[in-house]
Amino acid sequence: MIPVSEPFLDQRALELVGEAMRTGWISSAGHCITEFEGLWAEYCGVRHGVAVSNGTAALQLAMEALALPAGSEVILPSFTIISCAAAVLRAGCVPVLVDCEPDTWCLDVSEVARKITAKTRVIMPVHIYGHMADMDSLMDIAQRHGLLVIEDAAEAHGAECRGRRAGGIGAMGCFSFYANKIITTGEGGMVVTDDDALAEKLRGLRNLCFRSDRRFWHSELGHNFRITNLQAAIGLAQIGRIDEHIARKRRMAARYTAAFQDIPGLVLPVEKKDFKNVYWMYAIVLGEGIAISTEEMAAKLRGEGVETRPFFVGMHEQPVFRERGLFGGERYPVTERISRRGLYLPSGLGLEDSDIDFVCAAVRKSLA
Ligand SMILES: Cc1ncc(COP(=O)(O)O)c(C=O)c1O
Repeated sequence: MIPVSEPFLDQRALELVGEAMRTGWISSAGHCITEFEGLWAEYCGVRHGVAVSNGTAALQLAMEALALPAGSEVILPSFTIISCAAAVLRAGCVPVLVDCEPDTWCLDVSEVARKITAKTRVIMPVHIYGHMADMDSLMDIAQRHGLLVIEDAAEAHGAECRGRRAGGIGAMGCFSFYANKIITTGEGGMVVTDDDALAEKLRGLRNLCFRSDRRFWHSELGHNFRITNLQAAIGLAQIGRIDEHIARKRRMAARYTAAFQDIPGLVLPVEKKDFKNVYWMYAIVLGEGIAISTEEMAAKLRGEGVETRPFFVGMHEQPVFRERGLFGGERYPVTERISRRGLYLPSGLGLEDSDIDFVCAAVRKSLA
């Protein structure tokens, strides 16, 4: 079976993990964490990185760090992972959805202004499958309305919008370093920011809000969302190879796109002018004229030895939110269509060109 993704780990990661084990720095202190945070923040073009246990925790801390009044509204895309809406709700805020664009699958910036009310405080764009949302237009709207932007860049390590990297543009950028991400720490995440006060707040929240002036003394409620030095050791080795990882993702995507170009109705990922898509996952949407369902296609591909994954299901369709009285009667047509008609193909960094060619042939066969 050709897997959808597999981590690509090297000797350097093994050495750094070995060093952490030999020296006993296996918990949340150790030089790998601070180096990893510093290098990743620098890569994103900001001054602070606060590493945490996963991308979901990063989003939760970013929301909590703002300490917004209860009932504040946060605009986010309907097409995303539940971590985003969950972070909004856990911070006592209200998620307000907008649909996504049919080509980049990222939040449709042209719909944002209509959703702004007197209670809106934050916009949370999600950079989907390696392509960024239109951050220039979004930052413009945010500035005009006095709103903060939290970027979810979990899937877009190193992606660019007009020369600026994902995660480094908004007030805070959130990353996941789960095993399928462009760089991984196994489990892990980070919030990056250029704001000193937010960085301080994030560090406190990550570590139970211990006060620095007196031991075991707390004036706020925090979490244990710490990352370990063992995980950061892997991350440190991975950062050193990020250019290589992204180049490999882009070559893989070019190979897929060349092979699928002539298939009528098959919607392929785009790279808009002035953007750099890092093609975290090579995703396709079955469009007009393709009768087969994604479930049938996934089953056929599985039969050929090719693993796939379906797209996210829209937040407005999630039972957990419907039961809470959220998003009742709301419709997001692009999200609904792509969530039913999209799937992503093997995109692991260890795949050979011959594996990609094998997947391409299997896709053609399943559509024939
Ligand atoms: C867009 C997006 N945001 C957030 C997350 C959550 O990250 P994690 O799985 O590390 O909690 C993911 C998941 O991988 C994701 O795809």
